[in-house]
Amino acid sequence: MIKIAPSILSADFANLERDIKKVSSADYLHVDVMDGAFVPNITIGVPVVQSIRRCTDMFLDVHLMVEKPARYVEAFARAGAGLLSVHLEADHPVRIAEALNIMEDCGVKKAVALRPITKAEAVLPYIDRLDMVLVMTVEPGFGGQAFMEEQLDTIRRVRAIIDRYNPACELEVDGGVSPKTAPLVTQAGANVLVAGSAVYGSADIPGAIRALRG
Ligand code: DX5
Ligand code: ZN
Repeated sequence: MIKIAPSILSADFANLERDIKKVSSADYLHVDVMDGAFVPNITIGVPVVQSIRRCTDMFLDVHLMVEKPARYVEAFARAGAGLLSVHLEADHPVRIAEALNIMEDCGVKKAVALRPITKAEAVLPYIDRLDMVLVMTVEPGFGGQAFMEEQLDTIRRVRAIIDRYNPACELEVDGGVSPKTAPLVTQAGANVLVAGSAVYGSADIPGAIRALRG
């Protein structure tokens, strides 16, 4: 079953509750947290996640694009995240492992995320304890960028690692996912598709979500 995770980065932040309700037929709500250091952009922080938690029952898939994410795991977990993704490039391996430990203590699901430059094999030290791996198909930082087709190889490799070491782990793809690229990423092994512009840029949002499911 393919799951769809609309990214509220493409929503109207002045009408966030309205725009969240528009994607209620999706599976997860993808929340992009950016700190202006790990990526050039600044977006959403803990208080916003807290407010989102109060206005929807959707599962909150929180993508942390921040330096040294272990510092913020507990706060986002308390704010209502259902899953947290930390980037493998955002800290030393020992601190990434610590971020996963804190997630475990807080009872949230655990994911690691890979920038396009990072090899699939970088997930190996963590794979047995992960609920999800997030493969970026754009450089993180902004919505509306073009899909990087060369990332299909990384998706295939991560799928092989998951199948071998932790088949229950989900494989999420984020960046430039559209009705055109969705079949490519699902064929490569992804089962959770993040989509910002393809969902919120559509006049028929439930239809766009159905189209992405394939
Ligand atoms: C980019 C974010 C994405 C972004 C995707 O750094 O992680 O979640 O919202 O947007 P689209 O689907 O427009 O590429
Ligand atoms: Zn994202």
